[in-house]
Amino acid sequence: MRTISVGLGERSYPIHIDRGLLARTELLLPRLEQRKVAIVTNATIASFYLEPLASVLRDAAVEVVPIVVDDGEVHKNWQTLNSIFDSLLTHRCERKTTIIALGGGVVGDLAGFAAATYQRGVPFIQMPTTLLAQVDSSVGGKTAINHPRGKNMIGAFHQPRLVVADTATLDTLPERELSAGLAEVIKYGLIMDAPFLAWLEVNMEKLRARDADALAYAIARSCENKALVVAADERETGERALLNLGHTFGHAIEAGLGFGTWLHGEAVAAGTILAARLSERMGLLSAVEVERVARLMSRAGLPTEAPDLGEARYLELMGHDKKVEDGKLRLVLLNALGKAFVTSDFRSGDLRQVLAGAAAHA
Ligand SMILES: NC(=O)c1ccc[n+]([C@@H]2O[C@H](COP(=O)([O-])OP(=O)(O)OC[C@H]3O[C@@H](n4cnc5c(N)ncnc54)[C@H](O)[C@@H]3O)[C@@H](O)[C@H]2O)c1
Ligand SMILES: [Zn+2]
Repeated sequence: MRTISVGLGERSYPIHIDRGLLARTELLLPRLEQRKVAIVTNATIASFYLEPLASVLRDAAVEVVPIVVDDGEVHKNWQTLNSIFDSLLTHRCERKTTIIALGGGVVGDLAGFAAATYQRGVPFIQMPTTLLAQVDSSVGGKTAINHPRGKNMIGAFHQPRLVVADTATLDTLPERELSAGLAEVIKYGLIMDAPFLAWLEVNMEKLRARDADALAYAIARSCENKALVVAADERETGERALLNLGHTFGHAIEAGLGFGTWLHGEAVAAGTILAARLSERMGLLSAVEVERVARLMSRAGLPTEAPDLGEARYLELMGHDKKVEDGKLRLVLLNALGKAFVTSDFRSGDLRQVLAGAAAHA
């Protein structure tokens, strides 16, 4: 088992990574304040993993309240959140009852926001079951729901007490979802870890073939990088924004096509290429380096060309992003492969050229 620590003082917590961890109740039990948990999951994940987890917990004399929500990003909303509150209240969950998120980023964000706000905050544990959730969304304490007018617009910071990433759950993950998670894995290499990027260039086919050792290594390395950034800047006043490489473009793609048309990771992949092209126009990256990024995304099974939404629509959608500060668009760009920075200091002409290029390529 690999264990990474997220260093946040007295709120520090471990991330455990290995096959078969859902059955390892000894990891969970010491972290429960009460022998009662509510497991939030969705119907798809429940069919594989709810009963195995619930039964080992019941065997350990833990009362289990299962809360099964509908599957999909469109359900990451107020109505679903409220249905979670209904279940918590109906089953008399208390302030010491731990909420466990068993699922991908959607379940994690919903359950996390429920945990942040139910009775002003209850203990929370993440048991991520998608690659994206294991390398990204389960770590760092951001929780949210979507508003009809914007993604993740309503939320809270609420750190988990523990993250248990059972890599065996990835066996049932659809291929396209695995690739989407790889976009975030590649992101860590690009923003801060050139040696990891080089490792990914050697091992991409192993990852797509779900080689157990390669996956565990990539997940652990990704979590190490995320843990460093989160420990340095928990509430995203600075450095944490680097984790949004490709995301301002990506969110525009997700929203422009309609949420759910492209997966988040797919949009981030194409968005990352746009960020790399803008960096190239600014003389920060070479054409060869941009091509290296595109080639790796493509080998990960990800799109490398953004859809043609039209330049004006892109700019409008990007203007709604949370990264806008004092009305100024801020973007994460690359200084080199392995080094990112945040800036609002780019020529709008260059941005327009890159967006126009998206139309030309698509
Ligand atoms: N909080 C954060 O820091 C953070 C970071 C990144 C992304 N996110 C959020 O995460 C969400 C995306 O997460 P995601 O990519 O995990 O998507 P997801 O949660 O929708 O899961 C993808 C699909 O895979 C299914 N699934 C999950 N685990 C499975 C398994 N083991 N076997 C078979 N099917 C499985 C799900 O039911 C779903 O249909 C977005 O809402 C995004 O905003 C949050
Ligand atoms: Zn992301």
